[in-house]
Amino acid sequence: MIKTVKHTRDILPSEFSQDTSAQSHRFQHVEAIAREAFRRYGFREIRTPIFEHTELFARGVGTETDIVSKEMYTWTDINGDSLTLRPENTAPVIRAYIEHKMAHQSDLAKLFYIGPQFRRERGQKGRFRQFYQIGVEVIGKSDNPAIEAEVIEMIYWMLTELKIEQTQLLINSVGCPVCRPNFNEMLKREVAPHLPQMCGNCNRRYETNILRVLDCKEDAAIVSKFPSTLNLLCQECSTHFAKFRTYLDARSIPYKIEPRLVRGLDYYTRTAFEITSGSLGAQNSLLGGGRYDGLSETLGGSAAKGFGFALGLDRFVMSLPQDVEDPSVPLLFLAHLGEKAMEYALKLASSLRREGVACAVDFEARSLKNSMKLADKVKAKNVLIIGEDELVKGRYVLRNMSTGEQSELTEEELFERFKAK
Ligand code: HAM
Repeated sequence: MIKTVKHTRDILPSEFSQDTSAQSHRFQHVEAIAREAFRRYGFREIRTPIFEHTELFARGVGTETDIVSKEMYTWTDINGDSLTLRPENTAPVIRAYIEHKMAHQSDLAKLFYIGPQFRRERGQKGRFRQFYQIGVEVIGKSDNPAIEAEVIEMIYWMLTELKIEQTQLLINSVGCPVCRPNFNEMLKREVAPHLPQMCGNCNRRYETNILRVLDCKEDAAIVSKFPSTLNLLCQECSTHFAKFRTYLDARSIPYKIEPRLVRGLDYYTRTAFEITSGSLGAQNSLLGGGRYDGLSETLGGSAAKGFGFALGLDRFVMSLPQDVEDPSVPLLFLAHLGEKAMEYALKLASSLRREGVACAVDFEARSLKNSMKLADKVKAKNVLIIGEDELVKGRYVLRNMSTGEQSELTEEELFERFKAK
């Protein structure tokens, strides 16, 4: 048997999967709430290809990041081009922003995307090699921290609508090209004497990406003694961070300053944030994002400010309450007994569907008992029983599958009852 590739998975209709973390209607539910949030907050959809030139991620995300140095699915195309399955979608969106000259058409582009991303990570609960992200990017002239607070407000609206609880907002400022070099130098001086006791990763990062040493879980005890970026922010970064916090306070959004939050992508400047969930286990990051003011220039575009985030859709789905209703289950299952009844049921199904009613009709002749079993299996809400007698009378038995209640009604009454729904 050919199976899914390791650490990838199928997302199935609830009828075929008991595993609530892999049911497609739960993914649709999060997507629907996100789309509603984007409508309210003025974000428009962008769809970029799932593969890009490798150079986009090398330059955009940074060659020394884990993502680019060891997690990308990269191959050489027949013409010699190096291509990569996207591991994230911020660099592609900025590429599109530059390529389509969006700066000329709008002072502030507010874009969202929904789609798969690919990283060759070690799989575990909540971590997959193909996973799904929903993200937004705000790109343009303004770097007002009110943008950041508004995006976070939108995220909280989504979390509340989705009934996702036990979340915590962590914020930090990672500085800018003015203050970061000083900080990096200072950090190097502090870290150097501890290197012999530190892990291989930290020793490597000391040379290539010193800021990421602060992120090390293995050496957490040593790292906790090092200074944080907040100790050395320049005046402008400091003011920006203070304003951002004022805007959060004005919205009564609680947060924790996490001075060692330095995310795994090199493009961040100033604000970095993450929302974690208490119910997820080791991979507890529900979403993450931040400001990336230099990214457009790094990718060959003109100067542009940028801020955004991406949420892990798989992790959102895991954090939803158990009882998310599946809107794709049939409202009505038509059970028929006898050839004439089947013919009638098939026609009735067509008319009901034209009126917008989700209904299922059995294609096989079965006993009533077996029809009921099938209706139960597809989780139909109601069953209409059509037998020869009912056909003659023009009245049919309707059974509510959750209460067991039965009533008799005519075709006209049936339409009346279900059309509105
Ligand atoms: P990221 O922190 O790499 O940021 O990913 C964002 C979210 O994607 C994570 O918080 C997590 O929920 C989810 N995620 C990441 N890797 C996996 C995985 N292997 N399996 C399941 N879920 C995963 C970015 O990707 C940035 N582009 C976010 C951003 C947008 N920053 C600014 N704009």
